[in-house]
Amino acid sequence: MKYNLRRITEFNKLILENCCDKDKVAVDATCGNGRDTLFLAQHCQKVYGFDIQKQAIDNTEALLKENGVTNYQLFNCSFAKMEEYVEEGADVIVFNLGYLPGGDKDITTSAEETLEGLKAALGILKPHGTISMTLYWGHPQGKTERKAVLEYCRQLDPGEYHITYLSMPNQDNCPPEIILINN
Ligand SMILES: C[S@@+](CC[C@H](N)C(=O)[O-])C[C@H]1O[C@@H](n2cnc3c(N)ncnc32)[C@H](O)[C@@H]1O
Repeated sequence: MKYNLRRITEFNKLILENCCDKDKVAVDATCGNGRDTLFLAQHCQKVYGFDIQKQAIDNTEALLKENGVTNYQLFNCSFAKMEEYVEEGADVIVFNLGYLPGGDKDITTSAEETLEGLKAALGILKPHGTISMTLYWGHPQGKTERKAVLEYCRQLDPGEYHITYLSMPNQDNCPPEIILINN
């Protein structure tokens, strides 16, 4: 049986709603089709969005325009570069790993890039900020990525960062997991 994706997506939104506010700056590290970018734009002062695929940036821009949202800047480049573009720092940073829904399944996030992105995110995270990373580990790249992210998170200073790890243990087929990092 396929895992319940809607449940964990909604749960993540509930958490994010509590971290967002009209004076907060957000980053959507992986725009994809723009659903998270739209959510962050609607709940924060501004959102910066990143994606390596032009198609994802175009889809996101179309969705934001369709919803009358203007408080955003999108960058067609890797999230590893967010420090260059988000000079003011960010309160909320969201990673939704894997491949573009409805797009090329061979273009996915990778362990190396994701660790670079995570380090960049920690570099711009404002005090009392939140990083939310949803891991999809049903595909081979995803398994390596999940292992690398968990290993990296485990060695973060517990005096500086609080890490929460959410999973759905009674669901089959490598159900998605969420890692939350708070400083
Ligand atoms: C699961 S999708 C994101 C879904 C999106 N949050 C949504 O609401 O539709 C993952 C996205 O990450 C993008 N991606 C892969 N590697 C990336 C990188 N290094 N930097 C930024 N985006 C990347 C892919 O192009 C893909 O669009």
